[in-house]
Amino acid sequence: MAEFVFVTKITDIVDGQILAFNIDETPIALARVDGKIVAFGDVCTHDDGPLAEGEIDGDCVVCPRHGARFNLVKGKATFPAAQPIPIYETRIIGEDVEVKLQA
Ligand code: FES
Repeated sequence: MAEFVFVTKITDIVDGQILAFNIDETPIALARVDGKIVAFGDVCTHDDGPLAEGEIDGDCVVCPRHGARFNLVKGKATFPAAQPIPIYETRIIGEDVEVKLQA
């Protein structure tokens, strides 16, 4: 069973920015969306674009390469991507942001 692992301090996550991490060889991205910390897979399912280099637009992340959008609640993709990205459970303990790597 997956455990929560420490990723960063909540004070390091600024509105509008996406941070990239590699946790146990899993590339994940963290962002603050509507005040909530979200963690998602940092690899676009269209052609491996780095989503942490994209932009947050509403409740989606937009891939910087060809513009696919992924919903940050369910991971659902729009064209040209077809497959969803993993969305990871997060929790805040004090100032620590922790992520459960199993999507
Ligand atoms: S690599 Fe992300 S849309 Fe093509």
